[in-house]
Amino acid sequence: MKIAASVLSSDFSKFGEEIKKLSISGVDMIHFDVMDGCFVPEISFGAGVIKSVRHCTFLPFEVHLMVSRPISFVNSLVNAGADIIIFHVESKSEILETIEKIKKSGKKAGISIKPGTSAESIFEYLPIVDVVLVMTVEPGFGGQKFIENQIEKIGILKEKIDFCGFKTLIEVDGGINAQNVSICSSLGVDICVAGTYILNSSNMENAISSLKDSNFHQKYRRRASCFC
Ligand code: DX5
Ligand code: ZN
Repeated sequence: MKIAASVLSSDFSKFGEEIKKLSISGVDMIHFDVMDGCFVPEISFGAGVIKSVRHCTFLPFEVHLMVSRPISFVNSLVNAGADIIIFHVESKSEILETIEKIKKSGKKAGISIKPGTSAESIFEYLPIVDVVLVMTVEPGFGGQKFIENQIEKIGILKEKIDFCGFKTLIEVDGGINAQNVSICSSLGVDICVAGTYILNSSNMENAISSLKDSNFHQKYRRRASCFC
């Protein structure tokens, strides 16, 4: 399982430095939470800020759009160096057009769901998106607690994807720490987003390896149990 570092809880006075530090500490990609103050109450940053730190790392840039009209952000994010663009099904805007626009730009497209939205509501998009992002907190703020009842939804999505033979990856975002990362790993999650757990730790490298280790141990336990 891969780890994406959410930079929402960064010290923005040294944003570039934080991203450089994260990329040498073992994360697999950088996750940018773009908020418009309308889809969610807060405003974070946009394409200009993302572009300004593109040179800080070779790691893929993943943008999680928490905005009301995602399609209008696609061009500037592509220009800023985004590799993966994810937006919410609850934006209720031009979903298919947005997916198509992202893919036509040569980037990976993802669809995200809030905790209150059913897995079934995104079934129709599973064959055409690269990734589905399951929120395990209400979007809008870092540092919240992982909502345990989302585990069932992850299971439903995994079953549907496997049953239909889709290549869609499952990503989980919100409240990830060294304990719940193993639950995600055992469910077959491909990517976990972690923000506060990494950025608030005294040693980023240790925090990232603790996420990767718990997921390794879980996998090892699963493999071991297959032989019994
Ligand atoms: C919440 C964001 C998340 C969040 C992750 O709206 O999408 O990416 O900031 O950070 P933690 O790990 O603090 O929940
Ligand atoms: Zn996010």
